[in-house]
Amino acid sequence: MALNDIPLFDEVLLRNLPVDNQVISEPNMDGLRLRPLCTRDFDRGFMKTLAQLTDVGDVSPETFIDRFEEMKRLGNHYVVVVEDTDNGSVVATALLILERKFIHACTTRGRVEDVVVCSSVRGKGLGKLLVSTLTLLAERLGCYKVTLECKPAISSFYERLGYTVSEELYMQRRFGH
Ligand SMILES: CC(C)(COP(=O)(O)OP(=O)(O)OC[C@H]1O[C@@H](n2cnc3c(N)ncnc32)[C@H](O)[C@@H]1OP(=O)(O)O)[C@@H](O)C(=O)NCCC(=O)NCCS
Repeated sequence: MALNDIPLFDEVLLRNLPVDNQVISEPNMDGLRLRPLCTRDFDRGFMKTLAQLTDVGDVSPETFIDRFEEMKRLGNHYVVVVEDTDNGSVVATALLILERKFIHACTTRGRVEDVVVCSSVRGKGLGKLLVSTLTLLAERLGCYKVTLECKPAISSFYERLGYTVSEELYMQRRFGH
């Protein structure tokens, strides 16, 4: 299958979210467009943007498409990107994952992950726009809470957006890959 512009999820979900007291009914800022990920974003530098967050490894277009299709099939992954429409490059991205549960009467929890803004456009409010958008989307999609993990040095970025430090410890076990 070739790279294309079919969105990962319905863009309508991003409309009319009351981000930062402004209703973003038309999520197009000057030369920038907030929208769902599509596979063509592979050619627009999506992975290079993610590489400013962490090691992304060597991913072929085929592997990228497979992962995209898997996420689309699962229907609980909401990857958004900000495209610089002047040059067609992806300059920022973030992911919301919905976790379905049996507790709290079969509730849903949201997790915000992989938030990154290209260094060339930091400090312009894009990080804030991404996280606010996904937080409101989580609420719109019925989550009872939305959580994220971050380094202590960056916690004030999220605190500005209404997140508080949880009492719970973040624990992990890594598997060497
Ligand atoms: C963290 C990051 C997403 C912020 O994006 P950004 O577009 O530069 O941030 P914004 O311009 O939207 O800033 C929003 C507010 O957060 C503050 N802020 C920005 N970066 C911050 C940081 N690293 N630590 C604390 N506060 C920060 C800004 O001063 C601004 O404050 P204001 O609302 O009072 O003016 C971006 O620096 C980045 O991609 N960093 C590398 C990847 C990373 O660490 N991602 C987070 C993983 S948990």
